[in-house]
Amino acid sequence: MPPLPPLLRATRPLSHSLLRLRPFLSTTTTSHKPLSTSASPRKPKAAPKTTTKTTKAKSAARTDESIAVTYPDPSAVPPSEPVVGAGGAHGLPTLATFSLQGRVGVVTGGARGLGLVMGQGMVVSGADLAIVDLNKDEADKQAKLIVETFQRENPGVERLPRVTAHFGDVSDAASVDKCVAEILKAHGKIDSLVTSAGFTENCEATAYPIERVRKLWGVNVDGTYLFATAVARHLMERKAKGSMVFIGSMSGSIVNVPQPQAPYNASKAAVRHLAASLSVEWAKAGIRVNCISPGYMLTALTEKILNGNPDLKSQWTSLIPQGQMGNPKDLMGPVTFLLSDASSYVTGADLRVDGGYTVT
Ligand SMILES: NC(=O)c1ccc[n+]([C@@H]2O[C@H](COP(=O)([O-])OP(=O)(O)OC[C@H]3O[C@@H](n4cnc5c(N)ncnc54)[C@H](O)[C@@H]3O)[C@@H](O)[C@H]2O)c1
Repeated sequence: MPPLPPLLRATRPLSHSLLRLRPFLSTTTTSHKPLSTSASPRKPKAAPKTTTKTTKAKSAARTDESIAVTYPDPSAVPPSEPVVGAGGAHGLPTLATFSLQGRVGVVTGGARGLGLVMGQGMVVSGADLAIVDLNKDEADKQAKLIVETFQRENPGVERLPRVTAHFGDVSDAASVDKCVAEILKAHGKIDSLVTSAGFTENCEATAYPIERVRKLWGVNVDGTYLFATAVARHLMERKAKGSMVFIGSMSGSIVNVPQPQAPYNASKAAVRHLAASLSVEWAKAGIRVNCISPGYMLTALTEKILNGNPDLKSQWTSLIPQGQMGNPKDLMGPVTFLLSDASSYVTGADLRVDGGYTVT
């Protein structure tokens, strides 16, 4: 990977979102001014201008529309691996209310990244799981791996978890309804939902094509709303209690710099307040809704970039009070807590899992 431009090195960290540019760039018009994805970085037109901008970015928390970053094609990124050593039914004793035994959970965007790890956390905590993703093949593969890992780590366990994979486009109402019906056919019920399907892009607002912004909001906001309401209807019909966790981002509460990502930030603010609003609307039905807002997490995609750029990693981590990026495993406990009875009086909350980033 070619070196990142000086601006990038001089300012606050980039979110994992910078890794998402290739699909964006492949669909943009020539009038749009996207971040570079060419093999070699763009040459600055005039050195003094670049220097001035760098100085500005160094001295102020501002977004910078000239940020360019090269990142690997998503197909070159290794798939996520199930977490090993998470324990399970035969692990250390813990508060019984943390158990998800007997529950059926759904995780959208669960074929990779954070969704996969949170789904595995639910399984380790006793739940059966339905993985929903656009990438059905990967979801199928991961469903098998989760059960195999569970079996290996819990020798002699009486019952293996049931983990299924389902195609679903969360931004499409018909696809969501079809997917929920398929899950109900496979599992008989749904008790818990984690909405992790989402993506992000970086582009200055004045150049961001509106159709791409709508696509982003369609997955991040509509997708959360559609899946949550479909599951809520099922819970209400069943007169059953339930718990939902929406995956927001610290970007829903703060503005990341220097990468421009206003539509993403707005989408995650919407996710956070949607959780709060629905928690009030559905409290009488016994449905709890909370939000988890992760900070900078080390996923397969970010790791691939950072391995080749140790300097960049240290710059990112220097802004996190805990001094390191989050591991997807760091979400297993928070999601289990919020889905379980251990949090039965917690609803409408936003749990930031960001190493302290947002309190500085
Ligand atoms: N990784 C981070 O550092 C980070 C930080 C804060 C918030 N988040 C949020 O966490 C969530 C997961 O991020 P990730 O890094 O694991 O991403 P990821 O790209 O690794 O995984 C996202 C998954 O969602 C699926 N998906 C995308 N669009 C979909 C759709 N329309 N319908 C169904 N599935 C779809 C993808 O196929 C993929 O499997 C996102 O909402 C993201 O905004 C991530």
